[in-house]
Amino acid sequence: MRLRISPQSIELVRETANIVEVASEFTALKRQGANYSGLCPYHEEKTPSFSVSPEKNFYYCFGCQKGGDAIKLVMELKSLPFAEAVSHLAERFGIELKLEGRSPEAERAAEQRTSLRRSAHKALAAATAYYHKYLLKSPAAEEARQYLESRGFLRSTIEEFRLGYAPPRGRPGFTQAARTVNLGREALEAAGLLSQRGGERFVDRLMFPISDRRGRMVGFGARSLGDAKPKYLNSPETEIFNKRSLLYGFPQVLEATRREKAVLVVEGYTDVLMLYQSGIKNAVATLGTAMTGQHLKTLSSYAEKVYLLFDPDEAGENVLEKAFFPAAELRLDLRVVRLPQDPADWLLENPAREFRELLSGASSVLEYVVRRNTDRVRGTDAVDRARALPKIKDLVQRIEDPILSREALRLAAEALGMDPGTLREELREEPGAPNVANVRASREAPPARVTPRRDQRVLSDPVVEAGRELLALMLARPDLSVRALREGMKAPPPWNGSVMLGTGDFGDETQGRIFALLEEYASGGDGAGPHQGLDPILSDERARPLLDEISALRAAGERLYPSTAALRAAWFRLAAIKRAEAKLLTEDFDEKYRLHTEVKLLNAAAVEASNQTLDS
Ligand code: GTP
Ligand code: MN
Repeated sequence: MRLRISPQSIELVRETANIVEVASEFTALKRQGANYSGLCPYHEEKTPSFSVSPEKNFYYCFGCQKGGDAIKLVMELKSLPFAEAVSHLAERFGIELKLEGRSPEAERAAEQRTSLRRSAHKALAAATAYYHKYLLKSPAAEEARQYLESRGFLRSTIEEFRLGYAPPRGRPGFTQAARTVNLGREALEAAGLLSQRGGERFVDRLMFPISDRRGRMVGFGARSLGDAKPKYLNSPETEIFNKRSLLYGFPQVLEATRREKAVLVVEGYTDVLMLYQSGIKNAVATLGTAMTGQHLKTLSSYAEKVYLLFDPDEAGENVLEKAFFPAAELRLDLRVVRLPQDPADWLLENPAREFRELLSGASSVLEYVVRRNTDRVRGTDAVDRARALPKIKDLVQRIEDPILSREALRLAAEALGMDPGTLREELREEPGAPNVANVRASREAPPARVTPRRDQRVLSDPVVEAGRELLALMLARPDLSVRALREGMKAPPPWNGSVMLGTGDFGDETQGRIFALLEEYASGGDGAGPHQGLDPILSDERARPLLDEISALRAAGERLYPSTAALRAAWFRLAAIKRAEAKLLTEDFDEKYRLHTEVKLLNAAAVEASNQTLDS
C-alpha cells in the first residue's frame, strides 16, 4: 500500500514554516516595515527586489515575478520534489507528519484507471489498423496515396510504420466502425479519438500512429493533406499520451538504435520515415515539442550517442542549451548537426552516404554551447570580455565530469582567444563563490539574450508602449478598472472566461510594480476599497519611488478619454502583444497554434472596443 502525507499535515507545515527563516537560508533579509527584503535568490541582481511577508507567509520578487510559500521556495531552491520539501520543513519546524494509506475507494479508482488505460490502448490499436487499411484500400484515399507517393515514400515504409488515412468528412469514420468491435465511448474518449463535440477527432488526415517504447499504441500525429490548419493535429494529452516523454519512431527504430548505440533526434515525423527508408534506421522525432530531459532519459537506455538535428533558429538553440546538462548527467555524448533543410527534403536530393558524413563531422554540444556563450563577446574589449566570465565560470563549474569540464575550459579559452591557463586564473579570481541559490537560479534562468542595453534602445518597445497606455487609463479612472483587476477582462466570444494580465506582462519593472499595487488595492487587500480612488495607493510606502511615474501616467491617461471601452481595448492590446511574443518563443506547436488563435481574437476585440470609443 502506498502512503502519502495527509492534507492536514501539509496545511500545518504551510502555516507553521516561518517564511522569513526559510528564505534567510538563501539570501540575507532586512526588515522594511511589515515586510523583509533582500537580493532575489532566483536571479542575479544588485538591488533588492525580493520581498517576504511574514504576515501572509509569502514571498514575491518584483524583478523576476517568482512568488509562493515556504514549500515552493524549498522545492525550487533545493530542487526537491513536493513530498520531500514538506518533510524537510516538517523536520525543521518540529512537525510530526501524518501519513495515510489509500482508502478502499482510492484503491478501486486506481484499478478503474488501469482498466481504462488498457481499453484506450486497445481502441488505438484498432484505430491504427482501421486507418491503415483505409489508406491502402479505400477509393476515397486516392489523393492521400498520391500525396505520399509524391513525397517519395515507398509502400514498404508506409506498411512498416502503419501509416493511415482518416476518412474525409461526410463518410463514416472510425468511431462508427468501433461500435461493431465493441469499443465503448469511454474507451474512445480515453484514447483521445473523439472531437470536443464528441464526433470524429481525425477527419481527412494522414495518420502517423505513435507507440510508446514498449510498442503499445498511444496516439496519433495527423497531417492535413491540403491547407487545412493546423498542419498537424496531435492526439490530446491523455493518461497515455504525454508529448514531453514520447518520441515518434518506436518500436521500429529500436533495433538499429541498440545496434549502433546511437540515435538521431529530428523534428518531423516525415524525417524519421525518410531517414529510415534511406537506411538510417535509428532516428526518432519529438512530437512538435522541444526535447526534454525525459526524452534523453528514454534514449539513454539504448544509445550512448545522440545526434540532434534542429533548425538553427533561436528556439532550436535554446533547446540545445537546455539539453546539455541532463545529457551530461546521463553520460550521453550529445552532438549537433545543422542541415539547411528538413532531412526528408534533403535526402530527396542528396545521397544517404553524404548524410552519414555529416554525422561524423558533428560538433559536440559542449563546443556548441561554449561558442554560443563566447560569441557574444568575442572581439570586444577586456571589459566586455570580463562580462562573459561569470557565465563561463558557471558553465565550467557546473560540469561535474572533470574531463568535460577541462574540455569546456579549453574551448572557451580558444573561443575568447586566450591561453587556457590565463583563463583558469581569471575564473579563479572572478568574485562571488556560487551558493546553492545562485547555481540553481542560473540553471533556471533562460539563457541571456542579446538585447540592446536599455539606454541604447532607439525605438520604443511595443510592450512598454501598450503597458503605458493601459496603466495611464487605469490610473486616470481607477474605478473603471477594479473589476478587470480582480477578475480579468471578460474575453471576447467565442472564448469563454476572462483575459488575465499579471505583473510579468509588463515590459518594464516600474510598470509591473504599479500594476501590482493597483491589483492589490483593487482586491481590497488592505482594507482600502476602490471607492477611495488612488489616495490609498499614493500613500503606500511602496509607491513612493513610483510617484513621478504614476503622476505622469495619470496625466497622460486623462488626455486619452478614459472609458470602459478604451480600457478594454488597451487591456486586449497588451494581452495580444504578449501572446504574440510567447508564440514566437514557444517550442510547442500546439501552444503556438493556441496562441495564434488567441492573438487574432484579442486583436479583433481591441479594434472593436476602440471603435466603440469613437461612437460614444
Ligand atoms: P512535412 O511538412 O510534411 O515535411 O512534415 P514535417 O513533419 O516535416 O513538418 P514540419 O517540418 O513542418 O514540422 C516538424 C514537426 O513539428 C512535425 O512533425 C510536427 O510534430 C510538428 N508540427 C508542425 N506543424 C504543426 C502543427 O501545426 N501542429 C502541431 N501540433 N505540430 C506541428
Ligand atoms: Mn518537414
